[in-house]
Amino acid sequence: MTFVRACGLSELEEDTPKRVELDGTPVSLVQTEGEVFAIHDICSHANVSLAEGEVDDCHIECWLHGSRFDLRSGKPDALPATRPVPVYPVKIEGDDVLVSLTQES
Ligand code: FES
Repeated sequence: MTFVRACGLSELEEDTPKRVELDGTPVSLVQTEGEVFAIHDICSHANVSLAEGEVDDCHIECWLHGSRFDLRSGKPDALPATRPVPVYPVKIEGDDVLVSLTQES
């Protein structure tokens, strides 16, 4: 599994998604509940950025129609989205947030 540096840990604010591009793949990084999560930054319902949505209870909410995706699994817990969004493994090394684009689930 290959990890690439996504950003510095100090660049992340609690519950505020940060959008990055890794090898051309849009990824939303979220620090919440003491962990950092990486989730594909395109909603599975339509082509909008999840990083513009709100974070609550380890979920990120799509701002357009309100589906909430679990940051641990990528699964939506509310319609209209029915398909999961890919989530990616994250490692923290010092102040570096590293992400592997290998899909976790
Ligand atoms: S575009 Fe995200 S729920 Fe519709």
